[in-house]
Amino acid sequence: MLTKIEAIAVLGCMLLLIVLPSLREQARILDEWKDARIRNIPNLLGKYGVDGWLMSQREHAEDVIWWSIKNATDFDAHRRTIILFHNKRSEKLPSPIKWVDNTGSAWPELTTTLETLQIDINFASGLQVGELNALQENIFGSWDGQLLNVPMLGIEYVATRVDGMLEYYHDLQEIVWATLERAFLTNTDLQWWFREKMQALNVTTWNQPRISVVVPESFPGWEGTDDHMAYILCTSEGEKDVPEGLKEGDIVLDYMHLGLTGNEVLTKSLERMKVENISGQIFCHPIGDWGHDAGAAIGITNLPEHVPVLGDLPVLPNTFYGIELYAYHFVAEGNETLRFRLEENAHRSEEAGKWRFVRGRQERLHIIDPTKRRRHTARPLLIQIQ
Ligand SMILES: *[C@@H]1O[C@H](CO)[C@@H](O)[C@H](O)[C@H]1NC(C)=O
Ligand SMILES: *[C@@H]1O[C@H](CO)[C@@H](O)[C@H](O)[C@H]1NC(C)=O
Ligand SMILES: *[C@@H]1O[C@H](CO)[C@@H](O)[C@H](O)[C@H]1NC(C)=O
Ligand SMILES: *[C@@H]1O[C@H](CO)[C@@H](O)[C@H](O)[C@H]1NC(C)=O
Repeated sequence: MLTKIEAIAVLGCMLLLIVLPSLREQARILDEWKDARIRNIPNLLGKYGVDGWLMSQREHAEDVIWWSIKNATDFDAHRRTIILFHNKRSEKLPSPIKWVDNTGSAWPELTTTLETLQIDINFASGLQVGELNALQENIFGSWDGQLLNVPMLGIEYVATRVDGMLEYYHDLQEIVWATLERAFLTNTDLQWWFREKMQALNVTTWNQPRISVVVPESFPGWEGTDDHMAYILCTSEGEKDVPEGLKEGDIVLDYMHLGLTGNEVLTKSLERMKVENISGQIFCHPIGDWGHDAGAAIGITNLPEHVPVLGDLPVLPNTFYGIELYAYHFVAEGNETLRFRLEENAHRSEEAGKWRFVRGRQERLHIIDPTKRRRHTARPLLIQIQ
C-alpha cells in the first residue's frame, strides 16, 4: 500500500516558456562565470594568506576543483595538467601558469618557476595521493618552499556564485516548480516521469527523484534539493483544504549570518524552534557546482545537533543554499501527526543584506483531487517529492 499510489490528478498547468540557449551560447555563458570566478582568485589568496595555489592532476583523476576551473569546451584534464595560480603576476610570469605534460618535462619547469616566484604553495585539499607523491619525488629537494593544505581557499572558490548565475538559478526553479505541479500515476512512474520531463527540458537532475507517501510508519531516508509536499484530498469526507505547512525555513534564514559557523546557525535555529514549539530537524547545505556544494553544513540528517568539520565552516557571502528541514504537525483530518518535509533554494542578496528564497517557499500543499481521476483513495495521503 505504501509503495503504490494510484490515480493522482493533473493540476498544475503552468506553461514553460524557458528555452535554454544553444550549447555554444551556454559555453560562452559558463566561461564568463568561470572567468569572473578566476578573477577573484587573487583576493582569495590574500584572504587566506597564501601566495600560490597548485593543482596537479591526471586525465580521469582530476582535482575536484578542475570542474569549477575548466573551460566549457574542455572535458577531462589532459595527460598531467598542472595549474599554478600565484600573486606575483608579471609579464614573464602570468597567472595561472599551466603545464600539460606526459614526459616529465613539467617538473623542472615547475621547480624553476617556484624558485623564481619565491612562494610557498597551497593545494586546497584536492591533491590526490599519487600526485602528492609525484610532487614529492620531483620537486622537493630542489625546491625548499612549503606545500601547505589550505582547504578554505578551494571551498570559497567553489562556493562563490557570481553575477548572472541567479537569473538561471531562478529559471531552473521555475522548471522544477512547474514539473512538481504536474501529475502522475504510481510513485515509480512519477520518478521516471520527472526524469523524462527534465530531459525534454534539456536539464538534468543530480540524483534520482524520489516520491514517497508520508504516513507515520513510512519515513524513508532521503536527500535532494527540492522537496515539496502534495496532499491527496479525501473528498468523499467533504475535505476541502489541507493542513498548514511549516515555517521553519524562515527561522534558519534569520540566523544565517555571514561568518557564523554552520553549527552556530544550527544551535540558534534549534533553540528558536524549541521556543516556538516546533518539533523537527534541520539539514541545510550549500548548492552550486555540486548538489551538495562546498561550504558550511547546517545539520545533516544523521547529525541533527552538531556536524563535525563541515559544520565548523563559516557561512560565506555570495552563495546558494538548499534550506532543507522537516517538522511534525498534527493533522486533525487524518487524526495523526505527520512529518512535513520541505526543501527550498535560497540565495544571499548582498544589497538586501539577507537571505531570500529564489522562487519563494512552498506556502501551501499541492492539492491532488482524486475525484478528478478515475480511482479514489480511501483516506488523505501526504506525498513527498524530492
Ligand atoms: C532542447 O534541445 C533541443 C535540441 O537542441 C531543442 O530542439 C529543444 O527546443 C530544447 N527544448 C527546450 C525546452 O529548451
Ligand atoms: C581555458 O582556455 C584559455 C584560452 O584558450 C587557456 O589559456 C586556459 O589555460 C584554459 N584554462 C584551463 C583551465 O585549461
Ligand atoms: C506544544 O506542542 C505540543 C504537541 O503538539 C502541544 O501538546 C502543546 O500544547 C504545545 N505547547 C504550546 C505552548 O504551544
Ligand atoms: C485519534 O487517534 C487516537 C489514537 O491514535 C484515538 O485514540 C482516537 O480515538 C482517534 N480519534 C478519532 C476521532 O478517530
